[in-house]
Amino acid sequence: MKIAVIFGSHRIGGKNAEIETAMRQYANVFDFDFIHMADNKVESCTSCHCCAKTGRCVLPQTKDDTFQEIFDKMVTADAVFIISPVYASIPSRLTALFERMTSVLFDPGVMNTDHNPLLNKKTAIFSYCSSGICDDAPIKLIFDKFVMKNYRFDRTTYPYLNHEQNPKARYDNNITAYVIDTLLSLQP
Ligand SMILES: Cc1cc2nc3c(=O)[nH]c(=O)nc-3n(C[C@H](O)[C@H](O)[C@H](O)COP(=O)(O)O)c2cc1C
Repeated sequence: MKIAVIFGSHRIGGKNAEIETAMRQYANVFDFDFIHMADNKVESCTSCHCCAKTGRCVLPQTKDDTFQEIFDKMVTADAVFIISPVYASIPSRLTALFERMTSVLFDPGVMNTDHNPLLNKKTAIFSYCSSGICDDAPIKLIFDKFVMKNYRFDRTTYPYLNHEQNPKARYDNNITAYVIDTLLSLQP
């Protein structure tokens, strides 16, 4: 099973490295594609609407803009894990990724339809900060827009792989344990 793992952190090392190391212990079971936003820049959407015709963003793929590469990896993966630290709200590069995703899915008219390439994708979303596991609802609420056919603004309703009501208590506030437990739920 191919899993695209997106780390929202803007730094290499730290907690995201600890989580990645723990996940790599299962590299014989899963085919991981680790994507670090620290290594990836994503420009903001200019609302040119060109993607309405092609389904792809026309901003050139460069080392300063890896949107299409990341999005293609998400589309072709069997599962997507988004693991993000709290940066006041959501890290800006992850926010830019979501902004661009909105356009390439909405403008061509595939959002909220069966043609959405992310629809029914196995997806897990985690949020953490220096004090441990954080509420993942804000990121899930945004991501619902990309995967729900009946998107709503007030609460998240997509069946995410991780849906623990009180993960702080269950995993002793250990984000790595929460990620690994969710990963193992995909074990064949
Ligand atoms: C720009 C920035 C903003 C942050 N804002 C918050 C915050 O509002 N609340 C919080 O609890 N932690 C905040 N943090 C702390 C990070 O969430 C925390 O250090 C996290 O473990 C970093 O993950 P990493 O080690 O994988 O980079 C912030 C960190 C940075 C760099």
